[in-house]
Amino acid sequence: MDKEASKSKIIIFGGSGYLGTYMVKASIKLGHQTFVYARPITPQSSPHKIRLHNEFRSLGVTVVEGELDEHEKMVAILRRVDIVISSLPFPQVPDQIHIIEAIKVAGNIKRFLPSEFGVEEDRLSFLPPFEACLDKKRKIRRAVEAYGIPYTYVSANCFGAYFVNFLLRPHEEHEDITVYGSGEAKVPFTCEEDIAEYTIQVANDSRTCNRIVFYRMAKNVLSQIELISLWEKKTGRIFKRTHVPEEELVKLTENLPFPDNVRASLIHSIFVKGDLNYDIGENELETSRLYPDHKYTTMDQLLDIFLIDPPKPAVAAF
Ligand SMILES: NC(=O)c1ccc[n+]([C@@H]2O[C@H](COP(=O)([O-])OP(=O)(O)OC[C@H]3O[C@@H](n4cnc5c(N)ncnc54)[C@H](OP(=O)(O)O)[C@@H]3O)[C@@H](O)[C@H]2O)c1
Repeated sequence: MDKEASKSKIIIFGGSGYLGTYMVKASIKLGHQTFVYARPITPQSSPHKIRLHNEFRSLGVTVVEGELDEHEKMVAILRRVDIVISSLPFPQVPDQIHIIEAIKVAGNIKRFLPSEFGVEEDRLSFLPPFEACLDKKRKIRRAVEAYGIPYTYVSANCFGAYFVNFLLRPHEEHEDITVYGSGEAKVPFTCEEDIAEYTIQVANDSRTCNRIVFYRMAKNVLSQIELISLWEKKTGRIFKRTHVPEEELVKLTENLPFPDNVRASLIHSIFVKGDLNYDIGENELETSRLYPDHKYTTMDQLLDIFLIDPPKPAVAAF
């Protein structure tokens, strides 16, 4: 196939955000014409966002300034693209209904990837605070399907750098590391650059239309204890492990205010119960099988990057 013919026009909502920035850069790297739909720059906008938009423009990205409820503006820009990827933050998940309605009116979109990129919400159930959040993501899925929009749902599992920052706290001076439960539960991690590159590939792949895609790399399924031991080996330090028992976490999910109760229930499910470490069937889609040539970053390699130039912690997902 002609290489140019396989290139798409991709718009990213939330492109100035934590995951979105990786996504925009991956789309450019893989040669696609890239658009970002972002809220307008105002005198209150952060210098980071202003710099980022200038950087995007210098890379050839078309930055469209608009609000999520500006229907006509959204329809007009959607008519110029083929693929829509949303990496809006959790509080804006329900607002994606505006994108869905605009996609329906525009009528030309070949694929929509709603903002998911975490657990597979139609497969698992969690303690009530996290479950309530996932219900919002499920509602968006059902709206996409009801509108007959071609979709792909991505279950990227735990973001690598995001959770290294959370679990190991490499930016702080400390002697101890908190371990949730026994710390033995196996957890799948995916590094952010891989999430972004896989997602751009998935969005352009006919095999993934109207399917769920799992990101699960064999070398990146690690327990907290394994991750801490790896970090100790690399830093030459020994950290005191402070265990938070399961019962204590469950109580926190019941007593903490939102959004801390969500964080506690997420930690309980992922790190104590190991809920993300289920079998992926042969007929299900998994990226290391779909794209065997993609050389993903292992958590071991990611920790080497943290030793030299640690990626900055993200703002909390909830
Ligand atoms: N699996 C994991 O480990 C993990 C970890 C973190 C996040 N996630 C998921 O990844 C997805 C993206 O999260 P993120 O942390 O990357 O998002 P984020 O950085 O918090 O936000 C993305 C962008 O959304 C836009 N935005 C923020 N508030 C808005 C509002 N009120 N109205 C309209 N737009 C708004 C902003 O861009 P503009 O200002 O330019 O509009 C922002 O930069 C979410 O689905 C999240 O749940 C998963």
